[in-house]
Amino acid sequence: MLEKINQLREDIARLKAENAEQIEALRIKYLSKKGEISALFNDFRTVPNEQKKEIGQKLNELKNIATEKINALREAFASKDDISSDIDLTRSAVPYAEGSRHPLSLVKNEIIDIFSRLGFTIAEGPEVEDDWYVFSSLNFAADHPARDMQDTFFIQRNPDVLLRTHTSSVQSRVMEKTQPPIRIICPGRVYRNEAISYRAHCFFHQVEALYVDKNVTFADLKQTLLYFAKEMFGPETKIRLRPSYFPFTEPSAEMDISCNLCGGKGCNFCKHTGWVEILGCGMVDPNVLEACGIDSKQYTGFALGMGVERITNLKYQVKDLRMFSENDVRFLEEFESAH
Ligand code: DAH
Repeated sequence: MLEKINQLREDIARLKAENAEQIEALRIKYLSKKGEISALFNDFRTVPNEQKKEIGQKLNELKNIATEKINALREAFASKDDISSDIDLTRSAVPYAEGSRHPLSLVKNEIIDIFSRLGFTIAEGPEVEDDWYVFSSLNFAADHPARDMQDTFFIQRNPDVLLRTHTSSVQSRVMEKTQPPIRIICPGRVYRNEAISYRAHCFFHQVEALYVDKNVTFADLKQTLLYFAKEMFGPETKIRLRPSYFPFTEPSAEMDISCNLCGGKGCNFCKHTGWVEILGCGMVDPNVLEACGIDSKQYTGFALGMGVERITNLKYQVKDLRMFSENDVRFLEEFESAH
């Protein structure tokens, strides 16, 4: 019996294993109920009484040594496994679900980023406004249809308190307080009394840009627009300007970009024209400069305004405007890796 115990001690000291299965096989061989050490315990009954103490001790020692050896093999194997497997050691210990930025915020931030590279800084104004900043200071005639109840949400009449229908109101607020040079970008939410559908909403977002200084010309506007379009939609993007009308700019234009879905060849999205409209712009009307206390003989300026939803649709092809405000996480999660 003693010989057998010593033999097993030597065998166990030499044990090696390369994977979890081999370790388990060794455990079964030596330590399971039908294993070799258990068999020795069974035979212990036959050991003469005078040897029981010594052999009992040795047997217990053997069992401990075997258990320790198997545990040591397991540990060595486990730490080897940690390193060789593809566990990401930089991940946080707790599996926090990460949120994602709203697509409108992603696009708004991108617009701000592009204009800030041209030296524009952010200006913000209130969403609850009065008639002066939203309409009168911006050269809207007294009977202009945009003042109509149909378009504007009024909070109070006479004096009028209303929800701004465009971010152009921030232009007047800044010009009133600051003398040129002025180079601002005004992001914000605007409201219009529209029936909600896939293509219209009673609130949406705009970004306005305004540049007023000596000798600002239409060429500056055009170059700024071209830079913006290429940065936003890629270097292949072309722009075209169509004459238009806004009360606060003269001359005024609308800008189209070559359709970024079909590359200008014509598709359903651009109604087979190859062009899609993205913003309104123009030279600030001298009446607006004067209304805000800026000398229109010394200074000129350009302004432009665009809808953030429109730009986002072009970038991400969101077909239904309502998706932007429903906060369905399945929609929002689609933008997780965008930025
Ligand atoms: N405020 C206009 C709108 O809401 C957009 C716009 C057009 C802004 C031309 C401008 C501009 O600054 O020059 O439709």
